[in-house]
Amino acid sequence: MSTITVSGTPGYDVVVGRGVRHSLGNVLGPNVRKALLIHAPVMSAEAEAIREKLKGTIDVLLAEIPDAENAKRIEVAAFCWGIMGQSDFTRSDAVIGLGGGATTDLAGFVAATWLRGVRMVHIPTTVLGAVDASVGGKTGINTAEGKNLVGAFHAPAGVLVDLDLLDSLPEMEIRAGFAEIIKAGFIADTEILDIIEADPAAAIRTDSAQFQDLLERAIRVKARVVGEDFTEQGLREILNYGHTLGHAIEHTERYQWRHGAAISIGMVFAAELSRLTRGLTDIEVDRHRTIFRELGLPTEYPAGRWPTLLATMQRDKKARGSLLRFVLLESIGRPVVSGVADDSLLFAAFHEIAS
Ligand SMILES: NC(=O)c1ccc[n+]([C@@H]2O[C@H](COP(=O)([O-])OP(=O)(O)OC[C@H]3O[C@@H](n4cnc5c(N)ncnc54)[C@H](O)[C@@H]3O)[C@@H](O)[C@H]2O)c1
Repeated sequence: MSTITVSGTPGYDVVVGRGVRHSLGNVLGPNVRKALLIHAPVMSAEAEAIREKLKGTIDVLLAEIPDAENAKRIEVAAFCWGIMGQSDFTRSDAVIGLGGGATTDLAGFVAATWLRGVRMVHIPTTVLGAVDASVGGKTGINTAEGKNLVGAFHAPAGVLVDLDLLDSLPEMEIRAGFAEIIKAGFIADTEILDIIEADPAAAIRTDSAQFQDLLERAIRVKARVVGEDFTEQGLREILNYGHTLGHAIEHTERYQWRHGAAISIGMVFAAELSRLTRGLTDIEVDRHRTIFRELGLPTEYPAGRWPTLLATMQRDKKARGSLLRFVLLESIGRPVVSGVADDSLLFAAFHEIAS
């Protein structure tokens, strides 16, 4: 079992290991009498087991919500608020999120908004949820106009990454989640890349020592960044490595692609742009392609889609009211955030990843 502390006011711990979900009562703390456990359908048996375990100390109510992105809707938040209202939830009660990133995003949003914020504990059950969505306090839902447009920053009281719960993940979900782990390798902890390259098959096996080590390393990178920049005023932007193009691909693919697949291509693109503008070497760029291919993640995108991608990125830029910005690498492990105004450079980088 390992504990990673995220600093802040107050800070909180991310605990990683097998069986760590059993310390939920302690993380909720002595003052919580009632908790709403919001869970993905796939976690219904586990949710019931948690309710049984806490019986007598904490009254746990269960809210099963729709799977995946269907969870992140205002109607689902209202369903949860309804349960809390009917059960007289007070400010000293709590919310627990059990599931992938979509579930914890919705649960976090419910916790952030009920009585202007109640205690929240995340139990992420996907790789992406563990290393990214549950750490850092961003919560949110989607609207008809786009993804994650409505939300709040609301730090959890604790995060329990129980590897027992990740054993049932389909391999495709693990591979997709690994894109964020690899990202942490490229922007900060380069040992992540060495460990994966040494034995990619072992890296994605949930019972391997490497798997736990890699999860912890990626969480440490995220914890360090969000600990310094909770509300995304500066440093946190480096977490967007590969995401400028990645988001445009997700949008173009009408959100039918896994996030990890889209940002894998986005990272190869960002590496090519870094080669053109920041002197990243050919070897460093190739390292991107090789590691994503080893994990079965895509590195190319159809050539004819460039105009759509550029238009989508530019719309995103307008929404943020700033230049088209990219996280680039001066070398592996040394990210810089930079505005790129020259479309011909972007096209040249895209040409290198076009299929
Ligand atoms: N808040 C943040 O900072 C942040 C960061 C990154 C991503 N996100 C959000 O996270 C979401 C994506 O998260 P995700 O990739 O975890 O997707 P997800 O929550 O949709 O889960 C993916 C699928 O895995 C299934 N699943 C979950 N746990 C399982 C398990 N243990 N065994 C078997 N199946 C399981 C789910 O039912 C679902 O079908 C997006 O909505 C994204 O916006 C948020």
